[in-house]
Amino acid sequence: MNILAIETSCDETAVSIISSENDVLDVRANIVSSQVELHAKWGGVVPNLAAREHTKNILPVLSEALEEAKMTHKDINLLAVTQGPGLIPALLIGTNAAKAFAYAWQKPLLGLHHIEGHIYANFIRGNKKLEIRKTKENKTEKEVKIQFPILALVVSGGHTQLVLMKEHCHYEIIGQTQDDAVGEAFDKAARLLRLPYPGGPAISAWAEKYEKRKMKNEKDKADAYDLKLPRPMLHSGDYNFSFSGIKTAVLYTVRKYEKEHHLTTKDPLPEDFVQAVSLEFQNAVTEVLIKKTLKAAREYGAQTILLAGGVSANTQLRDELATAIKEEIPTVTFSVPPFEYCLDNAAMIAAAASFRWNKMSDVQRKECDSGWKTVLADSNLKMMSL
Ligand code: KG4
Ligand code: ZN
Repeated sequence: MNILAIETSCDETAVSIISSENDVLDVRANIVSSQVELHAKWGGVVPNLAAREHTKNILPVLSEALEEAKMTHKDINLLAVTQGPGLIPALLIGTNAAKAFAYAWQKPLLGLHHIEGHIYANFIRGNKKLEIRKTKENKTEKEVKIQFPILALVVSGGHTQLVLMKEHCHYEIIGQTQDDAVGEAFDKAARLLRLPYPGGPAISAWAEKYEKRKMKNEKDKADAYDLKLPRPMLHSGDYNFSFSGIKTAVLYTVRKYEKEHHLTTKDPLPEDFVQAVSLEFQNAVTEVLIKKTLKAAREYGAQTILLAGGVSANTQLRDELATAIKEEIPTVTFSVPPFEYCLDNAAMIAAAASFRWNKMSDVQRKECDSGWKTVLADSNLKMMSL
């Protein structure tokens, strides 16, 4: 079947078309129109500006997707849309567009949870055993076998959760952040370091520069700052997280540096210092995420660990989690989405729709025929098991 999905929960207008057969997914089109430049000057996403851009972009992005897939609306069997969570003005554009198309084209419409999409981004390349694929760096890599129980580490701008899945579309949240999400902490720490929005990729790039210098033996300079940020809730005994404390620790570190060097809060910070704080920040976050994930995987007998959400694009987290699993629980497989499906996109929503649809009863599928009137945007939508 051909699934057309729409995602507008934040600052990307995205439409994707996937052909799905027995849960093997073939991405026919994946168009993402990013608004990052527009929001960068405000240091974060401005909801009403995002909605205005989605309104402008939704039809051109949809046409481009159909064109790329070489399809018309007549070829589409199912429409899917991100129903929540997210920014309500932004969600409304996507859901209203999807509802209009569902009504005009007489197609079933399924509303999806954004995080369910991030999780199912891991299934986009299909779950064929040991299929060979090329990574972004053009290295070949064996495809992982994904098996239940799955433990998903969800790390995005709005969520940090450990989700246990004993079967498809069944979610049990075993731990989550008590305050900031990890992506949010990256963005806030970056702001304190005068780095541009979005902060995650910026911190990651600066941390990498510092790491490289250390490797080149520029050690004396690199270690000059003697930084140690906290590892919050590392030994809390549960699977919850907290990231607002690390952010505050970055604030104190920056203020101390400014005071010692007679700088104002507006003066530029030396590259050296920014790199050092970025690396220590990333080390702290990565350590907490990895230790808790491995502990939970052992306790719940996970067969596969999945990484999901925008922060899964972070190279240090991907690499160190992969290494820790290989060394400490080698029978557990590890899956991370291909880079192009880590950040917000609509292919992941189509993927989640495919798995949900295949699990639904005939009655539940029939209900989707009235999706054009029943699907409602919900900024606080809870993830629902099927
Ligand atoms: O999943 P996503 O695209 O949107 C939400 O659902 O929130 O995640 C966005 C978050 C932002 O906070 C961004 O800074 C972070 O993902 N991010 C990264 C990286 N790329 C994006 N964080 C760390 N390292 C990265 N390379
Ligand atoms: Zn997201």
